[in-house]
Amino acid sequence: MDYKPIDLSPPRVSEEAVDAVSTVLRSGWLTQGPRTTEFEKAFSDYQGHSLPGMAVNSGTAALHLAVILAGIGSGDEVIIPSLTFAAAGEVLLREGATPVFAEVDPQSGNLDPAAVEAALTAKTKAVMPVHLGGYPAEMTALRRICDAHGLYLIDDCAHAVETRHRGGWAGSLADASAFSFYVNKNLTTGEGGMLLSPHEDWLERVRRLRLHGMDHDAWNRYAADGRPGYDIVEQGYKYNSTDIASALGLAQLKRIEENYARRAELAAAYDKALTGLPGIELPPRPAEDSTDRHAWHLYVIRITEDCPLSRDELALALRRMNTATAVHYHPMHLMRLYRERLGGREGQLPITERLARERLTLPFCAAYEPATAVEVTRRIGITLTG
Ligand SMILES: Cc1ncc(COP(=O)(O)O)c(C=O)c1O
Repeated sequence: MDYKPIDLSPPRVSEEAVDAVSTVLRSGWLTQGPRTTEFEKAFSDYQGHSLPGMAVNSGTAALHLAVILAGIGSGDEVIIPSLTFAAAGEVLLREGATPVFAEVDPQSGNLDPAAVEAALTAKTKAVMPVHLGGYPAEMTALRRICDAHGLYLIDDCAHAVETRHRGGWAGSLADASAFSFYVNKNLTTGEGGMLLSPHEDWLERVRRLRLHGMDHDAWNRYAADGRPGYDIVEQGYKYNSTDIASALGLAQLKRIEENYARRAELAAAYDKALTGLPGIELPPRPAEDSTDRHAWHLYVIRITEDCPLSRDELALALRRMNTATAVHYHPMHLMRLYRERLGGREGQLPITERLARERLTLPFCAAYEPATAVEVTRRIGITLTG
C-alpha cells in the first residue's frame, strides 16, 4: 500500500512573509539594516525585555557569543545536559572550556537541579540548560544555584520562543538567552538566531563581535545620516544577520501565537489518538494550575518496554510507511568526539541514556492539521499490530 509522505516539520510560511521578503529583495538593501533593527526590537518586546536583542546568523553563533561574553575559557567547566544538540558542547570546546554533563529529569529530559549541584566544582563557571522540545527547564532552581555560587546562567532557548517558566518568558530568565531560527524552529528565518540579555554592556559588545569587531556596521556607514569608514576595536566574527532573514522573522513573529495555538491543538490531537496504545508514553505537560508553558516545539513520545517494538524498529517501520520521525537527541557524551576527549562512556548518565533509547519525535509543526496526528497514529497502530 502507498502511504502519502508525512515530513517531520515542514515550515509554515505565510503569503505575507513571502511579500515581506520580496519587498526587501526589491529594496536594494539585503544585509543587516533597518528590518533587522525592527526585528530585534519586536522580538525582545515579545519576550518582555526592555533592551533590544542582537540578531545573528544562527543559534550556535548566539550561544558562542554568550560563552565569550561570560568570559568562559580555558580551564573553566560549564554544566550542560547531554540530551541536547551538539552546539552547546561545541561552543564550549571552541573556547577551551570543558562541558560537564549532568543528569536530567526522567520526565522532561531537562537538567535536574540536584544533579547540577552535584556536578559543581571550583572550576565551574556557568550552567547552560536547554528547554528540551519547548518544555520549561527548572530555571528558578538553576538561578538559585548560580547565584549561590557566583555562576553565569546561559540559556539555550533554541526550542523555547513561546516557553514560559513561572509566568516569565524563557528569554528573560538568564544572563544570556540564545534563540535559534533554524528551519525547523517555531519561528524560522531559514537560518538565524538572536541573543537576549539584561546586561547592556554584553549587548553592545555583541554589536561589535558579530561584525568583525567593527565600531559601526554597514547600514551605519551607508545610510544618509551614517558615518563612513570604520575602526576595528577587537577581534570579531562574521555572525551578523540579514534584512532578508529579519523580514521573514518579523512576519513569523506576527503569527507566533497563532502558530503556537495550532501546535498545541496538534499535541492535544496526538494525546487523544495515542492514548491506550501499548508501551507508548505521552509527553509530559506542565500542571494545570502552573504558570509554566510548554512551547510545543517537538512532540516526543517514549517507547517503553511494554511496546511490541523497540523505538528503532518502530521508527524504521514508520519510515517504510513514508512517515518521518527523529530522535532528539542521541546523547552528546557518547558521541566519538566526547568519548575521545572527555572519556564519555555508556552507563555514565543512566537516565539520559534511557531517554535517548526511548524517545521518538513524531511529525509535528504548525503547518499540520489535527488530522495528521490521527493519520500518524493510525500508521503506528498498524505497525504495532503487525
Ligand atoms: C537545542 C539547540 N541548541 C542550539 C541549536 C543551534 O541552532 P542553529 O542551528 O540555529 O545554529 C539548535 C538547533 O537545532 C538546537 O536545537
